[in-house]
Amino acid sequence: MRRLTLGLALAAACIAGQAGAATPDAGRRECVDSPSHVITVCLIVDADGPAYEVSRKGKAVIARSALGLVLKGDGAARVDRIAGVDRVRRDDSWEQPWGEQRVIRDHHSELRVALAGPAGARPYSVVIRAFDDGFAFRYDEQAIPAGQSVAVLDERTEFNFVGQWDAWWYPARQADRDEYLYHRSGLNEVGLAETPFTLQGEGLYLSIHEAALVDYSSMNLKRTGQNAFKADLMPWSDGVLVKRVGAFQTPWRTVQIGETAGQLADSRMILNLNEPSQIKDIGQWFTPAKYVGIWWEMHLNKSTWGSGPTHGANNDNVRKYIDFAAANGFSGVLVEGWNQGWDGDWIANGAHFSFTKSYPDFDLPALAAYAKSKGVKLIGHNETAGALENYESQLEDAMALYEANGVSVVKTGYVKPNGSIVRTGEDGKPANEWFAGQYAVRHNLKVAQAAARHHIAIDAHEPVKDTGLRRTWPNMVSREGARGQEFNAWGRPTNPPEHLSILPFTRLLAGPMDFTPGIFDLTYKDKVEERVQSTLAVQLAEYVVIYSPVHMAADLPENYAKRPDAFQFIKDVPTDWETSHTLAGEIGDYVVVARQQRGAADWYLGAITDENARIVTVKLDFLARGKRYEAQIYRDGPGADYRTAPYPLVIEKKIVTARDSLTLAMAPGGGQAIRFKALD
Ligand code: NOJ
Ligand code: CA
Repeated sequence: MRRLTLGLALAAACIAGQAGAATPDAGRRECVDSPSHVITVCLIVDADGPAYEVSRKGKAVIARSALGLVLKGDGAARVDRIAGVDRVRRDDSWEQPWGEQRVIRDHHSELRVALAGPAGARPYSVVIRAFDDGFAFRYDEQAIPAGQSVAVLDERTEFNFVGQWDAWWYPARQADRDEYLYHRSGLNEVGLAETPFTLQGEGLYLSIHEAALVDYSSMNLKRTGQNAFKADLMPWSDGVLVKRVGAFQTPWRTVQIGETAGQLADSRMILNLNEPSQIKDIGQWFTPAKYVGIWWEMHLNKSTWGSGPTHGANNDNVRKYIDFAAANGFSGVLVEGWNQGWDGDWIANGAHFSFTKSYPDFDLPALAAYAKSKGVKLIGHNETAGALENYESQLEDAMALYEANGVSVVKTGYVKPNGSIVRTGEDGKPANEWFAGQYAVRHNLKVAQAAARHHIAIDAHEPVKDTGLRRTWPNMVSREGARGQEFNAWGRPTNPPEHLSILPFTRLLAGPMDFTPGIFDLTYKDKVEERVQSTLAVQLAEYVVIYSPVHMAADLPENYAKRPDAFQFIKDVPTDWETSHTLAGEIGDYVVVARQQRGAADWYLGAITDENARIVTVKLDFLARGKRYEAQIYRDGPGADYRTAPYPLVIEKKIVTARDSLTLAMAPGGGQAIRFKALD
């Protein structure tokens, strides 16, 4: 790390050809270049207030866009000059305890600009980090006195894109939270969009998101004009956007930029912008794993969460899944519907959920002991139905109970229409909050911290979107936050094939997803739009394409028993990686990902296409040079087509080296999964 003084910083700005002390812009413009001079971000401040603009390789990407927060009590006077500049260059590497890549390089240039103005203007700083694969900025409100209550009334941040772009997006603040299909449209058809908000155009791929969302409300993007967007924070029920006390920093507003879609997926910028781990001993109690469980059968209406003769979480059924897990090398068994509160309309009655009391036909200590005797752990399930106060009041007791029963992962859930999270307001009356407003953001961290005290990892469904917090809280292992496999059980309609070629360049940029792959009985409904819209090969490829340190084998044991040949891939594929590369892909068309197993020399490849058959040739130059590998290939067989014949699968073996290429032929709605087993 190298810290430059103000004088040197100004000199650097002059050398870079930008404004410096001698220009008419003195004190009004400062720029920072990314380490290899790919991206330049400039901060400008004048009578209109602060703004920024961005170019990549000399070409404008973001035109002048406003910056700043409006706090309650701000007067008319605004910052209008640069009062100080600090520059830091960082080139460090750090190690993830688990992840898609073990060692991550954090290489960026930071520009911190202190802004000031006439009497009455509230001073603050903008911190900008320029990476070669994107940039980020945040507001640092250090001048606020300790103990002073702060209400953020507006965030002025804008993103004014230069040129012609298409966006991949879905509307924010809708009832089903983040569980929507993405649309592709011109920018001018976008209304209020969730992030990651991915753009393609001008020979580039861009994704706007945020990093380190802590004690703040989450950001959506609102279109305000031609190519013009503004930050739109999910407010509290009283209209205030964010409530803080004393000095604070906002989350980072992030923009990843690549020349290919794959460069977005392989960017680690968001993780780099989060703080180092607060859980140093995570490796002693969390191990990336695959799990099975009492789950898909309920989504298919074969059993129920609620009590009665069809109750899924009964002792015999749980033992059956424990036996299946033990026999096939899975270390976790998820059991949903084990606890009291599911009977009747559980979405409306979330406040009645108990997180410690089991239904009578689920004997937690006995099942936990049985699981332990087989080398398996139960995975806990806490569906809150958005009743956060009820959950928080039981959190400590619940986590202590699970810890005592050997549970080391808990899946949480927040099924409740967005905007109807009930909180007891300051006046004692119920208030309705957004599922990713500051209230829920605080709750998510509170749960993770309580879980960490009991050595438990969290896999949150209907979560606050991921912003890389797993770096700081590595027990936040996975999340949902998109349309997952469950939609394929509900048939209204199910996920189209292209969904899996969009996720890697949108939702998955935020972090791991608990998608629940691996459905083998693909024809449980007759109509293709009411069942999983993929071939069998895709169900294998998902384990590689979608990154998560906990992946489910979601189908019923009897369906795996029918296809031991294909099931072998699920048994083999790891969930922890030394490194990952997106080898090819176009958003909404196809994706090819290769990952090296952590702690081993084997590589795995997953390829998925949309509704179109496709042939993609990839170089195997990611393999270690001089080594031979047995490629165990699981590909779509003759006649495979997700609409008419999802099952044909050819499994074949080939010896390959890093000098070879492989041609991947994929059926409509098809894909391919490969294990490269190192031979020498
Ligand atoms: C929605 C979750 O995404 C799903 O996995 C779970 O089974 C249900 N909620 C019930 O909690
Ligand atoms: Ca869900």
